[in-house]
Amino acid sequence: MSPEWLNPRFVTARCVTCSREWPPTDFPFTCPDCGPLMGTMDIIYDFRKLRATMPSGTSARDLWEWKDFLPVEPPVSVRLLPVGATPLISSETLATKVGVKQLWLKDDRLNPSASLIDRASASALAHAIHLKAEVIAAASTGNAASSLATLAAPCKMKVVLFVPEAAPEAKLAQLLLHGAYVIRIQGTYDEAFDLCAEVCRKRGWYSRNTATNPMLAEGKKTVILESISQMDGKEPDVVAVPVGDGCILAGAHKAFLDLKDAGCIQRMPRLIGAQASGAAALVEASAKAKPFPVMGATSTFADSIRVGLPRDQVKALRAVKETDGEWIAVTDDAIRGAMRLLAQTTGMFAEPAGAAALAGLIEAREQGLVDERETALVLVTGHGLKDVKGALSAAPAAPQAVAPTLEAVETALEKEIKQRK
Ligand SMILES: Cc1ncc(COP(=O)(O)O)c(C=O)c1O
Ligand SMILES: [Zn+2]
Repeated sequence: MSPEWLNPRFVTARCVTCSREWPPTDFPFTCPDCGPLMGTMDIIYDFRKLRATMPSGTSARDLWEWKDFLPVEPPVSVRLLPVGATPLISSETLATKVGVKQLWLKDDRLNPSASLIDRASASALAHAIHLKAEVIAAASTGNAASSLATLAAPCKMKVVLFVPEAAPEAKLAQLLLHGAYVIRIQGTYDEAFDLCAEVCRKRGWYSRNTATNPMLAEGKKTVILESISQMDGKEPDVVAVPVGDGCILAGAHKAFLDLKDAGCIQRMPRLIGAQASGAAALVEASAKAKPFPVMGATSTFADSIRVGLPRDQVKALRAVKETDGEWIAVTDDAIRGAMRLLAQTTGMFAEPAGAAALAGLIEAREQGLVDERETALVLVTGHGLKDVKGALSAAPAAPQAVAPTLEAVETALEKEIKQRK
């Protein structure tokens, strides 16, 4: 007998490499034969009983509106702080500047902890609560941790977070204020990830580590389910996604696969995976015939995508390959340019990783990989206030303070006007 909190359409969990299957009532988070990197899991549904209609994106209260597409039902406590149902904005100004027919921005800064990552935390938390987990733990560059700390608070779930020492201050403030247990590692995100996985194994904690828990891509895919319904079911030609571990990209691909399976869309958009050029392990691997395992050095100011060993590498590479998409590396300067463009044309203040997808689309357009007659969806994944240092490095220098006199103000104004001419 399946518990009533499982979606009856969820039929099996399948290893991405060897295709071994497990029942929804008892599946490992990664395949024991293929290991945590190669043996990530796909959640497979039977959509035959689902009518080919989608909830309206405009009237949704939160991401659970799409629960027909999600593995588990939401416990009441997980809905206390609504996640998802974020705005989709079409910007003519930006479309003209980038050189595409139409450009939509999915504003996922407007989630409770100010990033798209809340979608993954919500689905993992729901699962953990149903499984009666006592502790949920995660390693994070910053946003997964701040997200879990935020959403677990009203659920009264105990949270342990592993973050690199260098995580931006605002993200650290979120974890601490929400009362999570915080372990700061004198090392990289990749090291924090392995330590968290080890402690979870040893202590039997519920692991919310990216990619190695299939609930996460399922949660992240709702960003696409929502976007497509907000576009009245009309899919764009390309979708640009920022990539660190590759879980958002994996989720985006899964959303389109599920929508196609359910008969809600006819055509698969091309997926563009954008990585920082200083952390571009997947971009580099995509050119190789035998890409695995994927790992590389990291050096970028976009902390949320500063990942050396992308944990969702199999699904991420598959997503671009199967959709005939593109891998694009963008320099930190290009990301800074995209942050300014986004802020000055649309009013959206994004953290560096949050503007990386736009930088990727601009680069793809410049390389002729996207056509001017095409339409594009860009995911804006995190808020600029999460990393003020990063934002200041992209903004014009702050002017000198002037004396509190009308004369000094007039002189300063003249100077500003001259500079902008
Ligand atoms: C704001 C933001 N954008 C993009 C990403 C990259 O997501 P993924 O690691 O799933 O590729 C993250 C990951 O934490 C993030 O916080
Ligand atoms: Zn396997």
